[in-house]
Amino acid sequence: MYKPIQANKDTFWVGVNDYETDLFESLWTLPQGVAYNAYVVTGLNAAAAIDTVKGPFLDEYINKLVQALDGKALNYLVVNHMEPDHAGLISQLKTKWPSLKFIGNAKTVPMLKGYHGIEEDIITVKDGDTLDLGGHILKFFTVPMLHWPESMVTFDASTGVLFSNDSFGGFGAHEGGIFDDEKVNSRWEDEMLRYYACIVAKYSNIVQVALKKLGALEINNIFPSHGTLFRHDVKQVINLYDKWSRHDADNGAVVVYGSMYGNTRHMAEAVCAGLSGANIKDVRLYDVSRADTSIILRDIWKFRSLALLACTYNTQLFPPMEALCSKLLNRMPKNKFLGIAGSYSWSKGVLTALHDYAEKSKLALINPEVEVYTSPTQEDLNKCFELGMNLGEAMA
Ligand SMILES: Cc1cc2nc3c(=O)[nH]c(=O)nc-3n(C[C@H](O)[C@H](O)[C@H](O)COP(=O)(O)O)c2cc1C
Ligand SMILES: [Fe+2]
Ligand SMILES: [Fe+2]
Repeated sequence: MYKPIQANKDTFWVGVNDYETDLFESLWTLPQGVAYNAYVVTGLNAAAAIDTVKGPFLDEYINKLVQALDGKALNYLVVNHMEPDHAGLISQLKTKWPSLKFIGNAKTVPMLKGYHGIEEDIITVKDGDTLDLGGHILKFFTVPMLHWPESMVTFDASTGVLFSNDSFGGFGAHEGGIFDDEKVNSRWEDEMLRYYACIVAKYSNIVQVALKKLGALEINNIFPSHGTLFRHDVKQVINLYDKWSRHDADNGAVVVYGSMYGNTRHMAEAVCAGLSGANIKDVRLYDVSRADTSIILRDIWKFRSLALLACTYNTQLFPPMEALCSKLLNRMPKNKFLGIAGSYSWSKGVLTALHDYAEKSKLALINPEVEVYTSPTQEDLNKCFELGMNLGEAMA
C-alpha cells in the first residue's frame, strides 16, 4: 500500500508491507510477507500515532504519516508494544516532532530507556487511563504478557476502534484491500492462526483474561498490528480468538514423523490409514525434517489429534522431533489426543523420550504405543493402524 488509508473517522492506517524479511523473529517463515500496521488518530486538539513500524521502513512510514496528518503536528506516540517491529522508529519520530510525548505504562518505561535511551517526555498510564485528543478519547488497557510484559491495547470510544496490538494479528502482507470485507476469510484465517500458534499461543490463558476484560467495550473495529483490519465482522474474530485460547479444536489429525530411511514414515502412513479408517477426513502428514514448523504448529492448534513418530538417533529422539517437542512444551496445547511411536535398531530410546514428552504435555495418551525394531513388520503396521483408528474414535 503506497498511501495512508482512512480506516475510520479521523483514523488512518499508515503501515507498511514487508516482503523482504525471510523469517519473522528469525524463526517463522513469511511466504507472503508481513504487514506492520501503524495508525494515527487526528483529534480536534491533538494527534496521536499508535505504534510505528520496523526500522528499515522509515521513509515510507513518515511519508504516509505526514500525508495523514495533513499539516497538523504529531503530539503523542502511543507505545502499545516495544518489540522492534513496531517500536523501530520511536527515536526518529522524536527527532521529527521534538515536542512529541510518549504514552506507555510502567513496564514500557525501562524499555524506552534500554532500546532508545529515552527517559523524558513519557506519560505513564495505568490500566483504564485516558487521553483526550478532542473528539477522540483514547483509553488504555494493559495486557501484560500478551505477548510482552509492557503490551497494551488502546480503545477509541468515539469510533469503537480497538487498536489491539499483536493480538488478532496475522502473517501476510496486504494484497489489495486491508479490511476484512475486502477479502475472503481464507485469505487471512490460516495466517492468523499460524501467527497465533507461533507467537501468542503460549499466553492463551492471558488471552482469555483479556477477552473478559475487554468484553464490556462496544468494539466496532479491531485494528491489529499485523495483517487484516476487521471492520465488518469483529464477532467472528473474537470468537476465533476465544476458541483458540480455550484450546478448542476441530476433528482432524496431525501426524508428524521423523525418519531418515523411510521406516518410520511407513509407520506414520499406517497411522494415517487408521485415522481414515475411523472416518477422519482431515488428516495432515508432515515430515518434521522438511515441513515448515510454523505450519505444523498451526495445524496442531487446529485439530484435536496428534501423532508423533520418530526414529532413534545416537540413543535419543531424532533431533528435529526433539525440537518440535520442545516448541510444544513451550506452548502447551491442551485437550488433544496423542499417539506416539518410534523405531530403533540397537539401543532403543526414542519411545522413552516420546513418552517423557507425553507425560510432560499432559495430553491424553492413546494406545497402543508402538515400538518397532528396524523395518516395521505387518504386525507393527497393524498396530500403527490401530493407533490411528483409536485416535479417530477418541474424537467421535
Ligand atoms: C546416525 C544414526 C544414528 C542412530 N542411532 C541409533 C541409536 O542410538 N539407537 C538405535 O537403536 N538406533 C539408532 N539408529 C538406527 C535408527 O534409529 C533405526 O534404523 C530406525 O529404524 C531408522 O528409521 P528410519 O528408516 O525411519 O530412518 C541410528 C541411525 C542412524 C543413521
Ligand atoms: Fe510482538
Ligand atoms: Fe508484532
